[in-house]
Amino acid sequence: MAAPTKTATLTIDGKSYELPLLSPTLGPDVVDIRKLYAEADVFTYDPGFTSTASCESTITYIDGDKGELLYRGYPIEQLAEKSHYLEVCYLLLYGELPTQTQMVDFETRVTRHTMVHEQVHNFFRGFRRDSHPMATMVGVVGALSAFYHDSLDINDPWHREVAAIRMIAKLPTIAAMAYKYSIGQPFVYPKNSLDYAGNFLHMCFSVPAEDYVVNPILAKAMDRIMMLHADHEQNASTSTVRLAGSSGANPFACIAAGIACLWGPAHGGANQACLEMLREIGTVDRIPEYIKKAKDKDDPFRLMGFGHRVYKNFDPRAKVMKESADEVLGLLGIHNNETLKVAKELERIALEDDYFVSKKLYPNVDFYSGIILEAMGFPTSMFTPIFALSRTVGWISQWKEMVGDPTQRIGRPRQLYVGAAHRNYPDVAAR
Ligand code: SDX
Repeated sequence: MAAPTKTATLTIDGKSYELPLLSPTLGPDVVDIRKLYAEADVFTYDPGFTSTASCESTITYIDGDKGELLYRGYPIEQLAEKSHYLEVCYLLLYGELPTQTQMVDFETRVTRHTMVHEQVHNFFRGFRRDSHPMATMVGVVGALSAFYHDSLDINDPWHREVAAIRMIAKLPTIAAMAYKYSIGQPFVYPKNSLDYAGNFLHMCFSVPAEDYVVNPILAKAMDRIMMLHADHEQNASTSTVRLAGSSGANPFACIAAGIACLWGPAHGGANQACLEMLREIGTVDRIPEYIKKAKDKDDPFRLMGFGHRVYKNFDPRAKVMKESADEVLGLLGIHNNETLKVAKELERIALEDDYFVSKKLYPNVDFYSGIILEAMGFPTSMFTPIFALSRTVGWISQWKEMVGDPTQRIGRPRQLYVGAAHRNYPDVAAR
């Protein structure tokens, strides 16, 4: 626990309360208000948690003003360039980069859990073929609880470890199955001779009728996209996983809750919404019309892939994604991609417009990712499932950190009640 270094004084009705100030490794000091209600009989009010630290964590740090993102202290730019997704998974789960031997062992353990129970296939059959893959993923991941009674005792560190490995290993398989089911093609089993990203592409794009060779350019780009999405501090879906886990719910149910929350267009659903927006804009000359809509208070339209609760500078992931989009489309021989052209011009115009500059709205992780995923052959409906499978390691790492904390308690916020005061039940004749 971060040790209190200073105190803050709060005075209410002439009475002063000393609140400890906790000093983090990085970031602002934190006012510890845990005793406030008991001592001062008041709540704090922070809907949307814009000024609230919900937990203590050692996993990921974001500096929104600098546009900095660290996984266990390592900058995302360095990891994206030098690491690979399974190594980032090891780092997020265990706190340190693996040795060669540790990496081989971890990769072997994950690889050996990539298949799902054969009866899991039946869950897909209950969905319409045109179901959104996120709907099938929420349902199927939640159903995994029914299959793994050997890893549901969250108080057993070994059960927590096995559940984490299973989740990291199986989410790509389930996401690929959701895709195959939506296009009426047979499920493709994982191939343990392939690496993590290559295996996902194989399960999505190979068909029994012919051989499929993983394109190394696409596999590398896929792996980088997974790294960029792996964790992001206490975002909405991670907070959902933590809150669900705080009740003692099993890890599969908690991850299913995280997937459900991520689906929202204000969160992980933005990558699909952004590409659909760029397609709707269509050409560069229509950008001003959409900028005007985004600035219009009476218009609910927002620039999808723009803005962020924490980043008030460039999202570092968006910078890497933009470079990757140029690289991947170039390597694939896709020149003059109209959507990429619109995206870059939209970014340029928005960042010169006082509305976006004054509100510190920059492209976020979702602004360019869809362009790469579309070039890989994914439909927009698979963009958020790919975000979900990539973020699973972040969710499960944060869940493990919370469940492993002996001081952890069930999350139970209070409220500012502005409803009816106490009143008695009137007979219907008196109403
Ligand atoms: C992710 O939290 C995370 O870490 C999430 C994430 C992760 O890795 O887990 O980074 C992934 O979810 C990225 C964000 C993806 N969402 C989108 O791209 C959707 C579009 N963006 C917005 O909906 C919005 O920017 C949010 C939801 C991302 C952030 O919302 P906030 O922090 O609640 O900010 P806000 O809505 O209060 O906006 C502040 C102001 C408002 O204007 P005023 O009321 O102050 O006049 O900026 C405006 C907003 O109207 N604004 C936008 C805008 N985003 C904010 N105006 C136009 N277009 C936008 N995109």
